[in-house]
Amino acid sequence: MPRPNPAVSFLAKTQMRAGTLVLYTDQPDSRADLLHALAQIAPCTVLSASEPPPPDPCVGVIIDFDLLPSPLTGLRNLIAANPGLPRVFLMRSMGQRSLSVARNLGGRLCLPMDTPIATVVEALQTQLRPAEAQTPSRPVTGSPVVVQAAGRASAAIANLLDSARDHGTVDAAVIDATLEPILGAIGTGGLKAWLETVRAYDDATYQHCLLVAGLAATFAIDLGFSTADREHLVRAALVHDVGKAKIPLSILNKPGPLDPGERAVMREHAALGHEILVKAGGFDETVLTVVRHHHEMLDGSGYPDGLKGEAIRDIVRLITVCDVYAALVERRPYRAPMPSAKAMEILYGMEGKLDIDLVRAFERSVASS
Ligand SMILES: [Fe+2]
Ligand SMILES: [Fe+2]
Repeated sequence: MPRPNPAVSFLAKTQMRAGTLVLYTDQPDSRADLLHALAQIAPCTVLSASEPPPPDPCVGVIIDFDLLPSPLTGLRNLIAANPGLPRVFLMRSMGQRSLSVARNLGGRLCLPMDTPIATVVEALQTQLRPAEAQTPSRPVTGSPVVVQAAGRASAAIANLLDSARDHGTVDAAVIDATLEPILGAIGTGGLKAWLETVRAYDDATYQHCLLVAGLAATFAIDLGFSTADREHLVRAALVHDVGKAKIPLSILNKPGPLDPGERAVMREHAALGHEILVKAGGFDETVLTVVRHHHEMLDGSGYPDGLKGEAIRDIVRLITVCDVYAALVERRPYRAPMPSAKAMEILYGMEGKLDIDLVRAFERSVASS
């Protein structure tokens, strides 16, 4: 008899779903709690990585094994037959190679293997729920709200980047649907929980955009912005690096410093992003300005237009501060995240380039969140 676990409290009002959940795992003996929690959502089949999927319609899958040495035949067949299948990856490693395999399997939500069961279940539920129900209005605390909003925002960024890469355009409505959940998650769960959650999954660009969005949301709330202005800032933060969709992955994900030629290619993302959003329509002039100018520096040393001082608008300066800080505190497979105090030191060292009054306000905002 499985023993009770806290995840079940999430599921008390959940209706059983038609169809089957699949738990692909290499440690079935130690996953009794997870299995018990999943069985509250739908009947759950436990399989090893190479086993074929069950014949019944599948509604969701949890992937809980080391992706690198595993034969993935069964899982690949399942995903090929159900491309939109909700899925959560419990990662043995958050290294680049493992994340890349997960991404190739459509993994938008990659959580460390020791993630609490309640969070795993909530992450799956978030994908199972209809879109209109995915707002953080339920009285859940901390990380589930954050996981839910981060999952939605991550999916929206995936859509944004895929669409920009494949079609050269994007859908503004997809981004707009995530603004309220992100602001709600930051307001309820706090910045720290947001940073911890978004550092845990997906590739560098996703993680970066989610970090900048969370920092911008925190900053906007602390600065007393109106709801409309908060949403405006978060919208700009989410799309600020959309031009990276056009940068080769070998440069984008290079584990180490870029050479001068690669740096020049990387720098094109600001103008490319601006171009993509102009073509897409649905983004106002302020967002377009942020996308084009978020790498401009007050002393004129930035790009792509070498703007100086007053020519750089306040909203751009705000995002630039969040952007520089996010780049410093991100998790990378090849280095630990920089502590916040060290990152702030670097921001203060950029006096003349960054708006130092804003850096001070940002420091207060981050420290109190
Ligand atoms: Fe950028
Ligand atoms: Fe950025």
